[in-house]
Amino acid sequence: MARGGGVRTQLTPLCAVLMALVPLIPFAAAGGGFEFDYKRALHSSLLYFEAQRSGHLPYNQRVKWRGHSGLADGLQQGVDLVGGYYDAGDNVKFGLPMAFTVTMLSWSAIEFRDELIAAAAAGEEWRHVLEAIKWGTDYLVKAHAEPDVLWAEVGDGDTDHYCWQRPEDMTTSRQAYKVDRDNPGSDVAGETAAAMAAASIVFRRSNPRYARLLLRHAEQLFEFGDKHRGKYDGSITEVWRYYASVSGYGDEMLWAAMWLHRATGRTEYLDYAVDMADELGGATWAIGEFSWDVKYAGLQILAAKLLMEGRHRPEHRRTLEQYTVKAEHYLCACLGKNGAAGNVNRTAGGMLFVRRWNNMQYVTNAAFLLTVYARYLLASAGAGEESPPVLRCPDEAARADELLALARAQADYVLGANPTGVSYMVGYGRRFPRRVHHRAASIVSHAADGRFVGCVQGYDDWFRRAGPNPNVVVGAIVGGPDHRDRFSDRRSNYMQTEACTYNTAPMVGVFAHLHSQAEAAEMK
Ligand SMILES: *[C@@H]1O[C@H](CO)[C@@H](O)[C@H](O)[C@H]1NC(C)=O
Repeated sequence: MARGGGVRTQLTPLCAVLMALVPLIPFAAAGGGFEFDYKRALHSSLLYFEAQRSGHLPYNQRVKWRGHSGLADGLQQGVDLVGGYYDAGDNVKFGLPMAFTVTMLSWSAIEFRDELIAAAAAGEEWRHVLEAIKWGTDYLVKAHAEPDVLWAEVGDGDTDHYCWQRPEDMTTSRQAYKVDRDNPGSDVAGETAAAMAAASIVFRRSNPRYARLLLRHAEQLFEFGDKHRGKYDGSITEVWRYYASVSGYGDEMLWAAMWLHRATGRTEYLDYAVDMADELGGATWAIGEFSWDVKYAGLQILAAKLLMEGRHRPEHRRTLEQYTVKAEHYLCACLGKNGAAGNVNRTAGGMLFVRRWNNMQYVTNAAFLLTVYARYLLASAGAGEESPPVLRCPDEAARADELLALARAQADYVLGANPTGVSYMVGYGRRFPRRVHHRAASIVSHAADGRFVGCVQGYDDWFRRAGPNPNVVVGAIVGGPDHRDRFSDRRSNYMQTEACTYNTAPMVGVFAHLHSQAEAAEMK
């Protein structure tokens, strides 16, 4: 399930500016050398989160073409919902993908802490990672206004999509929507709990008081999600066309339990993940995608890590093994080594392909999971026979370096090692998407021209323009090419040219890892 956006706005056919359907030209596959500037890619990826900020921007905001927005969010409802992130190219704040973005940023920070600190002088990028996470968690704290109340959306996708306005000018509905005891939402509660638990690990050293606050919210949200079970799209029907929880809440509740276990070390959370493994699908679902909706592969990998480390009780072992088999299914599917059990498709250019709407989210999240799993394998090598030094696949076993090579190939594809020669990360390299489906970027900056741009006026004057966007959303990773590696840089082509925060979040970790690898290779 990808995201919906701009689907039903009645648009006239556009002056199609085609970067179009470039024939397959030979391109340099990533060889032994490192030909991309991962340090720059990492730097860019962190700028992107500043471009997506909602609320009152701080004095040190680096992305200057954005201004304050959504300053009355929550006012009608008597709750402060100022802040947080716009998830993509529109001006709605969707709780589920926002929380998932924070979880993946936090996982990046936990796993690649040393690389992120070393990536720039004085740990500058590390500081930006913490800021990106905190911009999200500060909002999530506000949104969790009471133990059993979570505000899960501000703005309304339908009215938003009839308008093409900068967030700074919004005249659209800022209705806020919540889940509570009578209107449950275990998926959004679970994901928000996971995000806050993971973030609490990140802040444990630098800001222990904040880490404890996050943990307290995470524990309450987990309890709320478990006690009052239900899918949030049943309670908030407005999300249905944009971020419906197709996979249900089983994955988010298990994911939250795994993160809470990691954050607190308390066995009760692992007991939950073990006891509920069948009922909530953790030990049964074998899936070839990992996304804002479907987290099974991620939580199965976290379970596999526990097994590799031997940090579990004897009675947990059997279930953790079942989880591990499913984690292996995902990774082997990416590697194309699953045989009859089914693989993730790849394009001729080598991109993992799941579906045509925002396929890049599956690519970047796969690159992340492959990288962390390879690290877990390497860390477990020599720790005893319990830990398989290789990934077991139906076709043949895979070594950690094969997982890393695939992850790097996907990252390199994103940055331009692909048949079109386009970097799908905006602002990186010479050729990148210039007509990103992004309201704020496609309209003159509020700072440069503060004259109000109306709802329909934005469509007429800016959306339908043939030229490039006036503002470059540096670090955004767009939806990307189709199953034949084709990409068309048109603003109306939202399946390919819209970027989402959860496309870039996992790459923060992947780029940090690749940069450190490239540096190590240079030292030799
Ligand atoms: C792979 O692509 C083929 C052909 O388009 C399609 O039938 C199949 O369902 C795809 N497999 C997966 C796992 O998406």
